[in-house]
Parts: sequence; structure tokens; C-alpha cells
Amino acid sequence: MLLSLCTCFLWLSTRDLWTVQAQDPDTDVSTRSPHRDLAPNNVDFAFTLYRHLVASAPGENVFISPLSISMALAMLSLGARGYTRAQLLQGLGFNLTKTSEAEIHQGFQHLHHIHKESDATLEMAMGNALFLDRSLELLGSFSADSKHYYGLEVLATDFEDWAGASRQINEYIENKTHGKIVNLFSKMDSSATLILVNYIFFKGTWAQPFDPESTREENFYVNESTVVTVPTMFQSSPIKYLKDRVLPCQLVQLDYTGNETVFFILPDEGKMDTVIAALSRDTIRRWSESLTIR
Ligand SMILES: *[C@@H]1O[C@H](CO)[C@@H](O)[C@H](O)[C@H]1NC(C)=O
Ligand SMILES: *[C@@H]1O[C@H](CO)[C@@H](O)[C@H](O)[C@H]1NC(C)=O
Ligand SMILES: *[C@@H]1O[C@H](CO)[C@@H](O)[C@H](O)[C@H]1NC(C)=O
Ligand SMILES: *[C@@H]1O[C@H](CO)[C@@H](O)[C@H](O)[C@H]1NC(C)=O
Repeated sequence: MLLSLCTCFLWLSTRDLWTVQAQDPDTDVSTRSPHRDLAPNNVDFAFTLYRHLVASAPGENVFISPLSISMALAMLSLGARGYTRAQLLQGLGFNLTKTSEAEIHQGFQHLHHIHKESDATLEMAMGNALFLDRSLELLGSFSADSKHYYGLEVLATDFEDWAGASRQINEYIENKTHGKIVNLFSKMDSSATLILVNYIFFKGTWAQPFDPESTREENFYVNESTVVTVPTMFQSSPIKYLKDRVLPCQLVQLDYTGNETVFFILPDEGKMDTVIAALSRDTIRRWSESLTIR
């Protein structure tokens, strides 16, 4: 199979969450972990947000960590009251009649915990930091709850000196992402008094590693008119594959060692929008049940 398709998008997930989410939603609640109950809402939010971002940036690459966004906003809700608080959580897809606020925060706490302490076979770091102007002070209850549920690290910053403040934030992020994200705030100027940061670093090992010797230069079709040459990994082995009969796309699932997995979704030529429009919890469930080893 030659994957020289125009476009592709991918979905990284914890295998465990994936399967649970595909199970009967009426399973006895007492047998489930709090973070698993969040999965369906997080998936809905992820796809809604992704569609929104794709629509607002036509032709651009969109790369997001939806969980980071959910987690940061859920944490922020701890500092809001009344309607604002409810709106933040509803915006993340939660129905507060069905899921209590306590359950939401406990769920994120558990997710944060498993992503922080994930297995030794992969490197994963996730966390939240709040850069706060020296002139401000956090409410004690917010500090305590955000630290308890989200491991929030609060760092005093002098926003009057934006050059110094941006250097402080950049160094923090560079460090937490092992040098992968540098100069996040290089050109931006800001009148902020508070900046909330969620970082995530992921480095996994393929369950079936690619042989570096097999990497070769191949064409990659950026769009109809642009072709670039990039180093392309190759391997020939049984993998989970699906040629979808419902949507115009193919799927490949590659596992990491441990419990993480990645789905590569390859829309047929010119069908990117059709596939993006159909992304939903049900589509994901159908795909995960239909992939077979080929
Ligand atoms: C929230 O859940 C309740 C109880 O299941 C349901 O009656 C209500 O319609 C739901 N609200 C929304 C906005 O989905
Ligand atoms: C991040 O900071 C820690 C402690 O200051 C340091 O030991 C580590 O080497 C730094 N990592 C990177 C990638 O800069
Ligand atoms: C194709 O991609 C190139 C490089 O990103 C860009 O300059 C060009 O405008 C794109 N063309 C179309 C038709 O989107
Ligand atoms: C993978 O998930 C299972 C089920 O939740 C868990 O028992 C196991 O410890 C996990 N394995 C690793 C390597 O994290």
C-alpha cells in the first residue's frame, strides 16, 4: 500500500480510554474510573473544536492537543462563578445535570495523573502553569483546588517588563517540552497580567519499530499544486487497517509500546472536508471496531 495521499490527519489516544469509550455507556458507574466518564465529552469537544479551527484557517495545518485545552479551561472554571462557570464547563461539552463539577475535576485529576505517571516505555509530560503578575494574589481556594486537581504551578512574573516576562515563559516552555517549543512569545507584545500555560510532551516507541535504513526520500503532496520531498519511513508488517465503506477514507492504526496508540486517517483525494465533517464519537467507535490486521 502506498500512502502518497495528499492529506492525512491523526489522532493520538490512550488505548484504554478508547475501548472504554466504545463500550456501553450504561455500564454500572461504580465499575468505571472517573477519567473514563470524561472521554465521550472530551471526544465531542475535540472534534467540534477541530472543525472550528479548520474552518477558520483554510489551507493551514492544524495541530492541537484537545485534552490540554479541555484541562486548562476546566481548571479555569474553578476560578469562575455562576453563569460563567457553568458556561465554561458546558462549552467543554459537559452536561452538568449528568456530571457534577466534582466528577469533572476528579476525572481530570485522574487523567492528569495517568498521563504524568504513564509507563516507562514512553516519555510523557503534561502540566499546567500560571504566570501571574507580582501585583496580584490568587484566592486561597483557587490555589488549593487547582493544585490539588490539576497540579497547577504558579509563577510570579513581572508583566511590566514584557521582554523579561516572555523570556521567563519561553524558558519554562522550552524546558518542559525538552527544547521542542522555543520562543513561543517571540514577537507578541502583551498587556496581560496572567498567562495560563498547558504543556504536553510525548515521545513514544513504536511497538513495531521502523528501520531507519528503510527511510528514503519520497514525494509528499501538500495540496493540488505543491509537492515537496521528505524523508519517508517504510515498513512492511501486519498492521491494523481499514478501507472505510461508509466514508471516503482509509485508516491505519499504529501502536506504541505501552497503552498509547495513533490513528492515521487518510481521506481520499479531495475528500478531506467530507471526512472532517463526519468525525464524531460514533465514527470513531465504528472505526475502532472495524480495523483489522492486514
Ligand atoms: C442534560 O441531561 C439531562 C438528564 O439526562 C437531560 O434531560 C438534558 O436534556 C441534558 N441537557 C442537554 C443540554 O443535553
Ligand atoms: C529543565 O530544568 C531542569 C531543572 O532546572 C534541568 O535539570 C533540566 O536540564 C532542564 N531541561 C531542559 C531540557 O532544559
Ligand atoms: C499549496 O501549498 C503551498 C505551500 O504551502 C502554498 O504556497 C499554496 O498557496 C497552496 N496552494 C493552494 C491551492 O492551496
Ligand atoms: C495499560 O492499561 C492497563 C489497563 O488499564 C493497565 O493495567 C496497565 O498497567 C497499563 N500498562 C502500562 C504499561 O501502562
